[in-house]
Order: sequence, then C-alpha cells, then structure tokens
Amino acid sequence: MCGIVAAVISSGDIRAEVLAGLKTLEYRGYDSAGMAVLHQGEISVRRKMGKIANLEAELDRNELPPSGLVIAHTRWATHGAPADRNAHPHRDDKERIVVVHNGIIENFLELRQRLADAGHEFSTETDTEVLANLIASHRNTGLELHAAVRAALKEVHGAYGLVVMSADDPEQLIVARMDSPLVIGLGDHGNYAASDMPALLHLTRDFLILENGESAMLRADSMEVLSAAGKPIQPKTLHCDWTPEQAERGGYPHFMLKEIHEQPDVLARTAFDRCVDKDGDVDFEEEFGLTDAELAGFERLRFMAMGTSLHAAMLGQKFLAELARLPGETLNASEFLYSAPLEEGNALTVVVSQSGETADSLRAMREVQRRGGRVLGICNVQGSTLAREADHLILTHCGPEIGVASTKAFFGQVTALYLLAIRLGRARGVLNANQGREYLHDLRNLRHHFEALFRQESLDEIKQAADFLTGVRSCLFLGRGLQHPVALEGALKLKEISYLHAEGYPAGEMKHGPIALIDEHFPVIALSVKDRTYEKMLSNLEEVRARGGKVIAIANQGDERVAATADYVISVPEVPELLSPLVTVVPLQLLSYEVALGLGRDIDQPRNLAKSVTVE
Ligand code: F6R
Repeated sequence: MCGIVAAVISSGDIRAEVLAGLKTLEYRGYDSAGMAVLHQGEISVRRKMGKIANLEAELDRNELPPSGLVIAHTRWATHGAPADRNAHPHRDDKERIVVVHNGIIENFLELRQRLADAGHEFSTETDTEVLANLIASHRNTGLELHAAVRAALKEVHGAYGLVVMSADDPEQLIVARMDSPLVIGLGDHGNYAASDMPALLHLTRDFLILENGESAMLRADSMEVLSAAGKPIQPKTLHCDWTPEQAERGGYPHFMLKEIHEQPDVLARTAFDRCVDKDGDVDFEEEFGLTDAELAGFERLRFMAMGTSLHAAMLGQKFLAELARLPGETLNASEFLYSAPLEEGNALTVVVSQSGETADSLRAMREVQRRGGRVLGICNVQGSTLAREADHLILTHCGPEIGVASTKAFFGQVTALYLLAIRLGRARGVLNANQGREYLHDLRNLRHHFEALFRQESLDEIKQAADFLTGVRSCLFLGRGLQHPVALEGALKLKEISYLHAEGYPAGEMKHGPIALIDEHFPVIALSVKDRTYEKMLSNLEEVRARGGKVIAIANQGDERVAATADYVISVPEVPELLSPLVTVVPLQLLSYEVALGLGRDIDQPRNLAKSVTVE
C-alpha cells in the first residue's frame, strides 16, 4: 500500500527515472502522488490528488528543477482523505526536512500535540507530516541526519517504510523500515530505494533488503546500514531474477490481461524450470529445506492466507487430502489471530501470499512461530518479509504481478500447492514413484490445453456471457468440491474489477438460502465440468432454470447436457480432475475482465483497492 521511490546519484538529473519507477508502483495505491527534489540547497515539492498522470501534468505545468536527489510517492490514503494537501512528500514547518512514508504511525496524535506545544505548525491531517517535524526537532538539537531519524523513530509506534531528505544534508537520503517493505537498489552511479523491486528494475537488479528496525544512509557512492540496535552491518545482497520487461504491459491494454495470458508460462516457471528433478520427482529449491523424513512427521497441515491466495490455499488443502491423505484446515489469516491459542502439535503451517507483505498473513505467521510452530511460505516475491521470515519457502516465480486483481499469482500458487501435495504423498508413502510421475505428467500436459482456452471461439463465448452480465446488478457463482474455491475466486474477481455484486457459494448450499434471490435478473455462474460433482451440478442448474434464473455454465467442450440447460456455455477442455481448477479459473478471470471492460471500469487500478495490503 503506497509506493516509494528515491534516488541519490553522483551527478546529473534523476527525476525522469524516479517518475518512471513510481509509475510501475501505481498498483500499490493511486489516491495521490508527489515528488520532492533538492536543488541548490532548497527542497521543492509537487503533489497532486489522483493518479500519477495528474502529477505528471502538474510537473509539466510547474516543473521541478533538475536534481540528483529525488524522492517520490504514490498514496493509498490512511490518515487524511485523498487531497493535494495530504499527498506525500511532507515537509516540516521550516521546510528543511521532507519525508515519504508508507504505513501508519499509531501515536501520531500524541506526538503532534507535543510538537504543536513546542511551536511546530501543521498544515495537513497526516501522520507523515508529524514524522517530518519530529525528525526536524531532533536534527535541530545538532544530531546528524541519520541519528536524528533514528531518534525520532524510537518515539514512534506503528509501521513505516520511509525515506528522508534534508536541505541541510545535500548528498544523502536516510531510509528505514518497520513492518512495511523497503528495498535498497545498488547502482553503478548511485543508490536507490523503493517499496518494491519492480520500481527499480530499470536502474538495477541488485538489492539490499532492510529488516525491521534497520536504517541506512545512502550516498551516491557509499552507504551506512545500521542494525535495529544501531550497529553498522553489511546486509546480504539479492540479485532479482525479474526483468524490467516483465514489469511492462508488453502490448496488452491492461496488466491483468497480460498476466492472464502469461499463465501457461507460469506453469513452466513455477513447476518445471525449478521444482522437478530429473527422475520426475518433485524437488523444490534449496530454501524449501524440509526433508522427506520431516515431511512424513507432520500430522496435519494448516493453510493460511487472504483474498485470492486464500482460495489457492483451499485448493492446497484438497490436494493434500487427495495425494497425501493428510488432514488439513484452511483459515483466513486475520481470523486465526483471534482463535484460541491451541497447541501447535506436529503441524506445518503453510502461509500463501503473492506479495509476501500482507499484514494479516505476516502476523499469523509470526503468531504460529511464537507458539512454536513451523511455517512454510509460498510466495512470489524474492526477499519479501514472508520469504525471509518463513522457516521454509517455495517461491512461485510468476514474475511481477502488477494488475491489482491477482490472476497469474493464483495460478502459480495452485501449481506449487499441487507439487507440495505430490511431494508429501511421496514422503508419506501414499504415492509410489510411478504415481508421483503420473501426477507430474498430468501437470506438464496441461500446457497443451491452454491453446483451447485462448481460442477465438472460447473468447467469443466469454464475451457473449460478459455482455449479458454487464446488464445485471448481482450474481452467484456456484461450484462443488474442487470447483468451490474457483467459484469463490470467480466472484471475487468480478466484484473487484467490475463492482458488480457477486457471491461464491458451494453449490450444495444454494437451496439453504441463496435460491431466494434467483429470478431473471439474478444469474448463476455454474462450474459444471465432468468431475465427481457433475450430476449434482446439473440438478442445481435445473433448479435455477425452474425459477427463471439465467445460467452461465463453465462446461467441458461439447457437453450437450449442460448446453441443454444453460443460457450461455463457456467451454473448457477436459483435464484430470485435480487440475481442472487451473483450467476453469481462466475463463472466469477473462469473464470479469470483459465485464469490467464493458462497464468502462479502471481494470488495473480498481477503486479503493491496493495491490498489497500492508495494514491490518
Ligand atoms: C485479489 C487480490 C487480493 C489478494 C490479497 C492477498 O485479486 O489481489 O485479494 O489476493 O490481498 O494478497 P497476497 O497474496 O499478496 O498476500
């Protein structure tokens, strides 16, 4: 939530590169944006409500002077409504210190009062302006800038990723983090900071990741990194395997569409480029770190996640039961925190998160660890908090996901969970080597079925159904068994980007309430592929039709029985049952995309949402 980009270079002007980096972060928040530069000892700031395009227009009208010391921010409002005055960067009242900040300072009111009593004046409602004044008050006591920032942060409760610039310290930036991501980019001619790696890929692919409590002073040719205790440290560097092109739209009108189309490649990147050894057994990368003996020792698995990742986790639990005969449970990470602290026993907790920065998921992970449990993270972002703090790790290697609505990350997570279930099945002796290879063969074969999903005939079917949905206000997604999490995901995708009301339900639940809603204006999207739930799904379709409800069915190619009952059919190829969620989810992603397009929505940056939810 909120995006930060900052740079300090040895000579020249870095404004354009910082702005380009900021644009790649717009998915993190887009209520307002701003930039500050230092030029000839003076700080200049431009800020604008709305998207970064508004800031760009402002910068065209009212140019900032060229500078090699620049900070910028795109905001998702927490304190203070979206408005020019509340946009970052924020200055202290003497305009000597300027700050961009992600996170929330919980005790800002108390700090504000104290600073106001000491004569500081405030012009915004934000916690960040308080921070700028607090740092200035310490700098004014004669402390060096880095020491002043650390002294200020000692007084602060809450989360922050921040960058500080000072008019009196012209060649340096101070960066610090606590529960909000911040990376340092290492360049040949300067150093950079950002809340996310994609913002800096056009400048560098070498990074340092700050841990909680750490801070750094960045100069163009050197830096000083201090531990939480204030001791100089040398953090490990990380070479990012994402390319700058992966963070671009590549000719697609929206990131979401590009990312939907990348899913066949995700299959290769998540599964076959890294996770399968030459004998066809699943062998994860080194960070996995769990032996077969350890895996065989777990008595149950617990999956935790939020949003789309939660739906992937639900499928993980089902794979585990099928392939490893191991019981599991799936919990919303934010709810776990309020459950009674039972004994962890011999359980492994799998935390699934695309960003690895979701506050609820991170808190749940830490709570499990506090109770003595072990955590396996399934995550897309190298160097993220989940990737660093989980005891064990599977990286999904989907490449950067920029569209706010998650698509390819879900695909990568489900693939990784399928592989995990095979590995557990092998470790527990439930699957022999041949069976393991067969399940992997099914996964490998899936690639050939993707062509059918993106064929023009299928896209036409999706468009027709989408045209119909643009005229309704509400709808129901139904699925049973493996298709239940897909129904939940389909409903989430539709509401996120089209703003239509949609609910996902297990189809068996329909008669226990939701059926009351059905009439000709309240359609049902039914996942009715030929699996063990097929006959029951057909009965559900009949029940909907009998009440005048319209049916959009996701069905296997050429299924006449479904075609006879449904108003719209979207065909998918027939694949092995366990893998069918990877096939049925794709037309649902495309369906919501087409509905949102038809309704003229802002697909990559839907209202009120942010890509990575770093506050609880
Ligand atoms: C849905 C979506 C969100 C995220 C959720 C968890 O399209 O993007 O529901 O899935 O905020 O995010 P991660 O996976 O980063 O933990």
